Amino acid sequence: MPMETEKRPAAQKIRGFLHYPGWLSPPEQRALRDDLRGVVAAAPLFSPMTPYGKEMSVRMTSAGRFGWVSDRRGYRYSETHPNGSPWPAIPPSILAIWRAVSESARDPECCLINFYSEGAKMGLHQDRDEADFGHPVVSISLGDDGLFRIGNKTRGGKTESLWLRSGDVMVMEGDARLLYHGIDRIAPGTSTLLPKGGRINITLRVVT
Ligand code: SIN
Ligand code: MN
Repeated sequence: MPMETEKRPAAQKIRGFLHYPGWLSPPEQRALRDDLRGVVAAAPLFSPMTPYGKEMSVRMTSAGRFGWVSDRRGYRYSETHPNGSPWPAIPPSILAIWRAVSESARDPECCLINFYSEGAKMGLHQDRDEADFGHPVVSISLGDDGLFRIGNKTRGGKTESLWLRSGDVMVMEGDARLLYHGIDRIAPGTSTLLPKGGRINITLRVVT
């Protein structure tokens, strides 16, 4: 799939995050969905436990050198899936998106795949378990719309929300790299990309 960057939509800045609505065309979204099927076949989705013993509503898996895991020992990056296997490689179609939107000289080491079914959400949090915040976090949305909330560098204060739709890409970098963010809810039935519905969010990060 060629990345014709000159035809891509321009970024809209929201609180310092760069939002590219419709970065991926519908055929690119379908190709990406099919690539993710290969990842999930090699590294099945699991329901992480928070360190407080509560099951998260989002199911997840990863690709790359590191994956994101959570259990009673806490949240952390891990070189293995909870089943003990190394994670599969990050699909080239996903690396191409990172290279097109990020100015990082490095490729991502973690590709986290979050699956939201109806009722799933993600509380406000910062992405701060990486060694160097100079590298961005790149997020790709597929499937049903998700209501994304952006806060501040510390908890509390005013927030702003926007709907992330299938094919949207969001870049969190620079001064905005450590802003709190989360997903309040998804809007079921707003996309036909995933046959059983739901939303997929992919986040890419340099970890070390
Ligand atoms: C995340 O911050 O880890 C996920 C955000 C999203 O689902 O859009
Ligand atoms: Mn995050």
